[in-house]
Amino acid sequence: MKVLIVGGGGREHAIAWKLAQSPKVHEIVCAPGNAGIAQVARCVGGADAEDVGAMARLAETEKPDLVVIGPEVPLALGLTDLIEAKGIPVFGPNKKCSRLEASKSFTKDFLIRHGIPTAKSRVFTDKDELLSSIGLYGYPMVLKADGLAAGKGVVLAADENEARQAIEEMMGDRVFGEAGDTVVVEECLVGVEASVLCFVDGSALVPMESAQDYKRIFDEDKGPNTGGMGTYSPSLVFTGKLNAQIRERILEPTFAGFKKDGLDFRGVLFIGLMMTDEGPKVIEFNNRFGDPETQSVLRRLESDLLDIFVAVTEDRLAQQEITWSDERAVCVALASAGYPGPYEKGKPISGLDAVEDGIVVFHAGTTFGKDGVILTNGGRVLGVTATGKTHDEARAKAYANVSRITFDGAHYRGDIGVVYGA
Ligand code: AMP
Ligand code: GLY
Repeated sequence: MKVLIVGGGGREHAIAWKLAQSPKVHEIVCAPGNAGIAQVARCVGGADAEDVGAMARLAETEKPDLVVIGPEVPLALGLTDLIEAKGIPVFGPNKKCSRLEASKSFTKDFLIRHGIPTAKSRVFTDKDELLSSIGLYGYPMVLKADGLAAGKGVVLAADENEARQAIEEMMGDRVFGEAGDTVVVEECLVGVEASVLCFVDGSALVPMESAQDYKRIFDEDKGPNTGGMGTYSPSLVFTGKLNAQIRERILEPTFAGFKKDGLDFRGVLFIGLMMTDEGPKVIEFNNRFGDPETQSVLRRLESDLLDIFVAVTEDRLAQQEITWSDERAVCVALASAGYPGPYEKGKPISGLDAVEDGIVVFHAGTTFGKDGVILTNGGRVLGVTATGKTHDEARAKAYANVSRITFDGAHYRGDIGVVYGA
């Protein structure tokens, strides 16, 4: 089969790397791809993944047997619908289902309607009304831009001043554009966070192995939020009892809710959870693989990823066997100077060939410079992944190899895999 992957980050590299192991895959094309993805796929540059017109045209000319869409923006813009209309199967939800990530208020309504535990919330479309409700549910005040905001649309305002400032930025200055014209205010949940990624089609919702993300830029969860500075899998937060609660209170009613609401979801549902004193509660839904959760999780997948993708597009997931390795995985992200703020690009990367056997370096933001030199080309640049028989072994291996790779301004967290608050 020929597969077209839309996207060009670490998640897409992990997907391409895993698909390349399938004996059934004879060609992988990736748009736009990156210098790492180019090891396993033919990369087609020239258009961004968010240019859905260009991506749909590419699907038409390349005629793949399957399209896999990585990032949330093309999904929200309806790329799945555009490509399916040409008769090509797509792994990734349609536009209607993609609202589960593209609109926080849509998701809140869904969760409430189906009795799925989540934070108390209220939706505001008027700035003055929101200002007059400032401190609703106390502080920190959780303010969420309704639409897609590249992972930056959630503010936990510590006090009234910070809340006012965030409201002004979202609804007054419109820093997130239209995405911030509607704001969801939530009660602040306290607990340990974890994510569960699930394969979903019309026949089943099947959780993958769990993963733990480290969102803040600095060690000990300090500093601003990022796209994710590292992950490990499986999560050490999950116990048998919690898993049962997650299945009964969250996964089962979510799948039943999709059916009741006529949501024809085919792809990955990423559930962000907070383990509170009252049990697990949903923080958010995303409608795609997490980045960098995927890098750790797919290193532990034993089954053929292509078989799973094809089963999902044909509503046969319930019959698909999915097996995971008992090994532990750790992924440490290397980021550019300045990230998550404005960052530098174009720095030559050295040491990519110096990593040990068994280490896989997924490229997140890289490109080829002159003479084939690999240059930095994004905020998160690389994800160094290791597996081991134990969590500690995987961690030690990942860090022993992270230090072999370098570029000007490279920085990473030293505590990926350390368990806080459990
Ligand atoms: P999101 O973009 O929805 O994943 O939110 C970003 C981060 O904000 C989450 O990973 C949580 O750490 C935090 N967050 C979101 N909603 C809440 C909430 N209701 N209570 C506490 N923390 C939250
Ligand atoms: N790592 C968080 C996300 O992909 O949204």
